[in-house]
Amino acid sequence: MPKFEELSGLKNIEPILIPEGDDFKNLQTAEFIWESLFKKKADRYALLINLGGGMINDLGGFCAGTYFRGIDFVHVPTTVLAQVDASIGGKVAIDYKKYKNLIGLFKNPAYVFIETQFLQTLPENQYRSGFVELLKHAIIASPHLLSEIEKKGVPKWDKIYPFLEKSLMIKRQIIEADPYDHNKRQVLNFGHSVGHAVESLCSELNQKILHGEAVAFGMMVESMLSYQTNDFPKEDLDRLMSLLHDFSYKKIKLKHVDGILDGIKRDKKNFGKELKFTLIRDIGNAHYGYSRGPDAVRNALELVIDNYF
Ligand code: GLY
Repeated sequence: MPKFEELSGLKNIEPILIPEGDDFKNLQTAEFIWESLFKKKADRYALLINLGGGMINDLGGFCAGTYFRGIDFVHVPTTVLAQVDASIGGKVAIDYKKYKNLIGLFKNPAYVFIETQFLQTLPENQYRSGFVELLKHAIIASPHLLSEIEKKGVPKWDKIYPFLEKSLMIKRQIIEADPYDHNKRQVLNFGHSVGHAVESLCSELNQKILHGEAVAFGMMVESMLSYQTNDFPKEDLDRLMSLLHDFSYKKIKLKHVDGILDGIKRDKKNFGKELKFTLIRDIGNAHYGYSRGPDAVRNALELVIDNYF
């Protein structure tokens, strides 16, 4: 694959600058992008290059996927989170009111260029937060990758590529089996049922939290639930707890359990009394669609918070 700077065919690039932050992943910014494309006379054959983190990938992909019923786009992800997750798999969306990714579509980029030099200037907490999605891929599908991470620790930006590559191959295999998220792709939600609920609680409480910090906590709770209700072995549970605690959001207290449970119940996957989870049986062996009652989930949440925070 050619390097970005070698693409001599990219003449007449017109920048469209977007303010930083998920608060701008909305209809107003999408309208600004459509309007900019229109004013710049972008036709059906225009190419939109989404240079930035996951928010830019989602927003730019959404605008490209709808402008003229869809023009081509390329992702150039500049964060670990975007390189390992957001740029791959064709999910593009904007938030609507307080709902994340409510309006969107599945549309794959023509190319994804992964350039790890961008990561040199990424703040350490963002780097580690993105690395959590890579850890998730190892936990749900590759005991070998997990052992490598445990042995070598979190690699610096100039050593991360082989880890990214393995992790991307895992995600690719899963999304190729279920591109539209009807079944198998839901294993990628491991840690996210609880993680999303924690993110929304923090937003109600005006507390800053990074996506990876919430998902690391979510994976601790969902690993505990796997141990209690799905025969996940105790020695593997201990192993994951000590690894994930380092990456997790730390300010969670027992008084937050009700708020987190409410958030899980509000999740769009949960229609009845039972709550839906992806659980693990062994490291590398995850399955989707397990129903668990609120009492089992409360118990797992309380045990994790009591014992590890
Ligand atoms: N980030 C989860 C997925 O792409 O399905």
